[in-house]
Amino acid sequence: MDSNRGQWSSKVGFILAAAGSAIGLGNIWRFPYIVGENGGGAFVLIYIIMVVFIGLPYMLAELALGRSVQRNPVGSIEAIKPKSAWKGVGYLGVLTGVGILSFYGVIAGWTVGYIYKMLAGRPGGFAGFIADPIPVLILFAFFIFLTALIVNGGISGGIERWSKILIPLLFILMLGLIIYANTLKGSGKGLIFYLNPDLSKITGKTILAALGQAFFSLSLGMGLMITYGSYVSKQENIMTSAFYISLFDTLIAFIAGLIIFPALFANGLNPSAGAKLVFVVLPDLFAKMPGGALVGSVFFLLLSVAALTSTISLLEVPVAYMVDEKKQPRKKIVWVVALVTYIIGIPSALSQGANHFFTDFGWLPSRLASADFLSEMSFLFGDFSLVVGAFLLSIFVGWVWGAEKAADELALGSANFNRFRKVWIFMIRFFIPAVIFIILLNLFGIFG
Ligand code: PFF
Repeated sequence: MDSNRGQWSSKVGFILAAAGSAIGLGNIWRFPYIVGENGGGAFVLIYIIMVVFIGLPYMLAELALGRSVQRNPVGSIEAIKPKSAWKGVGYLGVLTGVGILSFYGVIAGWTVGYIYKMLAGRPGGFAGFIADPIPVLILFAFFIFLTALIVNGGISGGIERWSKILIPLLFILMLGLIIYANTLKGSGKGLIFYLNPDLSKITGKTILAALGQAFFSLSLGMGLMITYGSYVSKQENIMTSAFYISLFDTLIAFIAGLIIFPALFANGLNPSAGAKLVFVVLPDLFAKMPGGALVGSVFFLLLSVAALTSTISLLEVPVAYMVDEKKQPRKKIVWVVALVTYIIGIPSALSQGANHFFTDFGWLPSRLASADFLSEMSFLFGDFSLVVGAFLLSIFVGWVWGAEKAADELALGSANFNRFRKVWIFMIRFFIPAVIFIILLNLFGIFG
């Protein structure tokens, strides 16, 4: 073990840091609006099936690879298959970390802005707010700075320490909001929409949307779990850890729905408002309620907290690569990577009306993503790249490294893994790559 790399100080610390990566805007902002667009309870059911049968077993593959060779995604692949083109998959992961962070940090900056907007009693004007370049760029800078500050602290002293505080805080804040939302008059209809699956609403599109959301939400496909797994000690039980990470991530998404749908239906609003659900519909709703300024502000505080534990992890992937492979000191390289990411993010920050060129960018076909730069980055890195990465990594672990060796690694520290060994090997070699391949075809619109 390279003592300069750092290690999680405890199993709980690791689980909370990885859960912190998984839990983010994907759970509280993206999950509810995708549920709303895909018909409610039926989507929730399919999503849970995807997490259990694809997300969780795939996560085990990334964690096993990372812990086995204790390197970043590029170094891990190099250690298993030196001087091969497979290393490109590692580079793709590092690049994807920077790519996602560059637009995710912009949205995270908006959430910080809304903490203030709600308190100040100005819940409206979302379109104007995100089109105003100066505040948006400052909030984005603030968020990246905060992220870098924590990653600068290292593994146990920075990421682990802060995740242990922020994730329980998030849980508590959200539990309070569930009670608040479900005591509103008329909220019961929201619960029915959310929890009563109407199976006739399940289509091919529902299934594929659920799969893509599962990858993004569980932070899979870019080697984040390889990186976080590389700081896990050999005595640790990876199987139960992965179980808890997936459970917490799914629970937070589920809780977000328990807050948002009752609140929406209590006000007779439409659940399929799309991406603006959280920034337009909810603030409006809060504003109409007694004490809503404070509740709304707390809500955006928790959204910022959730985003922060994810941006930390997004920055850690390229940083780990530079520390391991380029022998850069963490405390210097963190700031360099953060600055580069910020610069790459500027077009996204200006793409919501501030600048014509980036607002109407439109390099991708319109059926894949909206024309603004941020949406195009979100499609390229948040959807496409994760799915491609997951497809290649499952083949790498299943066939190149070898599913048997990966299974041996998983069995270290978890004796009970052997009960699932055969099933897992089948899944990583055949089932998972096949299913991901189908999502990939769908991204290209093969299924119309
Ligand atoms: N899982 C995060 C979310 O749901 O918001 C986003 C994310 C973080 C994706 C880290 C990928 C990743 F490696």
